[in-house]
Amino acid sequence: MKSWSGSAPSNIAIVKYMGKESRENAATNPSLSMTLEDFRTSVEISLIDEPADRWEPLGEWSLSEKGKARFLGFFGRLKAKESIQKNFLIRSGNNFPADAGLASSASSFAALTLTAYKAFSDLTGKPLPSAGELAQISRTGSGSSCRSFFSPWCLWSGAEICEAPANFPRLVDFVAILNHGTKQVSSSEAHERVRTSPLFDRRPDRAKARTEKALRALSEGDYAALAKIAWDDMWDMHSLFHTSDPSFTYMEPDTVAVLKYVENLWREKKHGPITTIDAGPNVHMLVPESEREEFLKKFRERFPKIQLLESR
Ligand code: PMV
Repeated sequence: MKSWSGSAPSNIAIVKYMGKESRENAATNPSLSMTLEDFRTSVEISLIDEPADRWEPLGEWSLSEKGKARFLGFFGRLKAKESIQKNFLIRSGNNFPADAGLASSASSFAALTLTAYKAFSDLTGKPLPSAGELAQISRTGSGSSCRSFFSPWCLWSGAEICEAPANFPRLVDFVAILNHGTKQVSSSEAHERVRTSPLFDRRPDRAKARTEKALRALSEGDYAALAKIAWDDMWDMHSLFHTSDPSFTYMEPDTVAVLKYVENLWREKKHGPITTIDAGPNVHMLVPESEREEFLKKFRERFPKIQLLESR
């Protein structure tokens, strides 16, 4: 049975994509992210002699029924776009724990797009699309997935998805896992609900200004400036959640405890991790690789029970 495989990394946004203009995920605002090479989704696609496409887990990780339908639905759209008539078994899995509460749509849709086009190129003889083209296609399945095609930093601004030029120390992302459960409000729903917030109106302006500043901080190696931008934009996005109608929150008591810890570090030492949170409760703390051990030791002393995952 002919099969193809591929994998793609996740990413964490410093300036967040929140709010969209179309079902194809045209973003309301620009965003900027760091690619997380060690949090990956692998996909295997095989030809099958069956009446429809099918999904199976690769390893222990699984998708909800809704997640499966979204994944297969997107694959169906890609097949239609490329006039592929055959059916396939799609297997996918993540290399990070299934119950960690880490969003995986970025790595999943990027890995699916990449692997699907490996298969389609092979079957049709057409060349594999470039990273930029694949990113544009993947964006129509999950907006944030388009940023997983460029590393270590990626800018998504309107029609442009590209590597963001940087002159910056290499960072490690520590993720404090604070809730293992499924989210009450999916990120797709969050994109819709934030439109009801009175703060949403000026959100594109604020995100645009921060993206410009972040690009400058990256090229100048200005660590403290990037940390401040990440902090502000995290609070900006979560304020949209907290002021939507109806309002919602992803924060757990330990989310706030970890944020206070980070805030204290910056206040007392004028230095700390670049900190952000996605549409979830877990806190991402990006630390220069040279400070990895010291950060880990101190964090473990303060929060011995909190699970930490780590990605380059
Ligand atoms: O994964 P998506 O395409 O539904 O978008 C989620 C966006 C956030 O993760 C909340 C922020 C971001 O820019 O990654």
